[in-house]
Amino acid sequence: MKWSESYSCSYVPYSGKAVCCAVKGTNGKVYTGSRIENISFPLTISAIQAACCICLSDGSIPEIFFIEEHNEPEQLDFWEKEFNAQIRYTDELPLTELPDYRENNDRIKSLEELLEDAVVTESDFPVSCIIKAGENNLYSGVNIEVSEWSKGLCAERIALSKAIISGAHLKTAEMSVCTLKGEFSAPCGACRQVILEHLPFNSIHMFNADGTRSSHLTVDLLPFNFKTSFLNKDSE
Ligand code: THU
Repeated sequence: MKWSESYSCSYVPYSGKAVCCAVKGTNGKVYTGSRIENISFPLTISAIQAACCICLSDGSIPEIFFIEEHNEPEQLDFWEKEFNAQIRYTDELPLTELPDYRENNDRIKSLEELLEDAVVTESDFPVSCIIKAGENNLYSGVNIEVSEWSKGLCAERIALSKAIISGAHLKTAEMSVCTLKGEFSAPCGACRQVILEHLPFNSIHMFNADGTRSSHLTVDLLPFNFKTSFLNKDSE
């Protein structure tokens, strides 16, 4: 598949510059990542970060990076060193179809089961997340930690990245978040800003260690959020 055919997986309303890459894990599977921008620019997820974190959340270790050109060089540098990965600059993506990170219906894990997939070497604080974008459209995420804390991703942002890269229709999607540690489950401020951009009036269900749950709309979780018509997103 030509790189240009995968550009629709990116979310780049501010720069207009789609970036995609693919990562082959030690399990032989290929994970596509794409750039996912945010109205608060520093919260942007790079293509290589998305691909590596999705690979790690599937229990695999990134081994080979397939890259179109030298995009996001400083990002690439970190991930290459972190996993001693090989970089291959290629003309085409090593895939024949656009990525689809929907959970396989026969093997859907519960939020609690998913917690075991979290890579929490630094915090020992597993978090899991499931986005339900229609009956058979579930996208899961767990938190991933790497040697540089700021390069890992929260469970919510991994689930959201998988849904966006897969082209999920998020209008009526709902998000569920779970931790069995801590006083209660709650997305961090950065996640709230990122979630808000894609699921503004959608429900977030938070499942707590004591078995209780609370549900809120994303907008209610982030009053006075950063929003400005001076940035170039088509404001709906
Ligand atoms: N974490 C999440 O996965 N989601 C949140 O909303 C809060 C924080 C993770 C990130 C990191 O792996 C660990 O919790 C401690 O910050």
